[in-house]
Amino acid sequence: MQDNLLLNEGYNNDIYINSSFGPHIYIGKKRYIDLSSCAGSQILGHSNYDIKKIQKEIIRKNISNYALPNIYAAEFAKTLNKILKNFSKYIFCNSGSDAIIKGLRVCRSLNAKRLIINATGSWHGSVNETLYVAKEDLTLKKLSDGLPEFTKKNLKFIPYGDTITSKKILDKYKKKINCILLEPIQGSLPTDKNIHYVKFLENYCKKNNILFFLDEMITGLRVDGSSFQNYFKIKSDISVFGKSFGGGFPLGIIGINKKIENKIKKKNLKIFFGGTFSGNSTNMYIANKITKKLNKNKKIIKNINEKTNFFTNSINNFTNKNNLDVQVFNFMSMARIVFSKKKIDNRIQRDFFESKKLKKIEKFKNYLFKKNIYYPKNGIIFLPFTLKQKDLNYTIQTITKALSLFFK
Ligand SMILES: Cc1ncc(COP(=O)(O)O)c(C=O)c1O
Repeated sequence: MQDNLLLNEGYNNDIYINSSFGPHIYIGKKRYIDLSSCAGSQILGHSNYDIKKIQKEIIRKNISNYALPNIYAAEFAKTLNKILKNFSKYIFCNSGSDAIIKGLRVCRSLNAKRLIINATGSWHGSVNETLYVAKEDLTLKKLSDGLPEFTKKNLKFIPYGDTITSKKILDKYKKKINCILLEPIQGSLPTDKNIHYVKFLENYCKKNNILFFLDEMITGLRVDGSSFQNYFKIKSDISVFGKSFGGGFPLGIIGINKKIENKIKKKNLKIFFGGTFSGNSTNMYIANKITKKLNKNKKIIKNINEKTNFFTNSINNFTNKNNLDVQVFNFMSMARIVFSKKKIDNRIQRDFFESKKLKKIEKFKNYLFKKNIYYPKNGIIFLPFTLKQKDLNYTIQTITKALSLFFK
């Protein structure tokens, strides 16, 4: 496409999607297996039958958007209250980034402390306060131009998974720390071997009057128990959700616990949450129906978990047998291929080993594309629920072939 007017990421090549169905996306007339599932939000697959049915209901019932309180948002909040255990109130907005921005606003409204602690390897979207990564010495490297200066001053990194170093940093700054913001299972290295670390942070926050803020954009509704914190019996003060809860449509949810709710009331805080489409009827209607469906029918989550375990085990067996310098990580239905066999405990190590293979990784992705498999840009693999065993086998065979070509 010539003279493209768009500056958004990705709009500088000729790969523009035009439609989709089930596990497939279409680029021009060509069909691709979609391993991204809209960054994990299309939990039922594209153009899903249930979603279409719900959309027809929306048309039949004359439900529109109003920029006003509506019964559908209230009903969805009621559903969430039955599913998510830790929260007494919800705030609806339109994306994960929107939810993080407003969640951090809640945190800052509660006290005068300003320091945000972030763990290396976490991702929280297009948010000024968090658009940084940690260098090896844990100092900040910005991910965007145009960030306001104060954001850098108010952010410190702790090394995800490393309790001893994290405790030292936390002890040094604890009087200034407003919140610890954490993606508990990281898309950058999906594994549950750091649960002890998350529990350490939960306890540290409790003991030191620090807000414990979990980013469950990916894990929300996708994992067993409907959330990471339900599953591992962890209590956050404030959390954000979206993606799967929205059934593939834009959604951000902020959940706050009773303690925060009471504080907001007691101090009579006026925190701004508005937005034209925040809690809009049509998305709320869809989100409520899909959330109820997934909560009732556990087979859907079981199915994507099993598919992902099969995917991970098949590729790991192959790479072990053939001595390839690759391994796959997964936590339930979040998976990632890491292009190194070395023992890797965090994203900094992952990036270090992968940085020597960037050209090979590019060749690997191009090979898959030629074979009609779309590999996600962010590297997080979300296998579609609608992917048939035949297509899953084809995906595994094609990936293992590509790995043996480029990573022997
Ligand atoms: C863990 C996590 N937090 C926040 C976000 C940001 O969400 P959004 O892209 O909807 O703004 C994402 C998006 O991928 C995410 O994975």
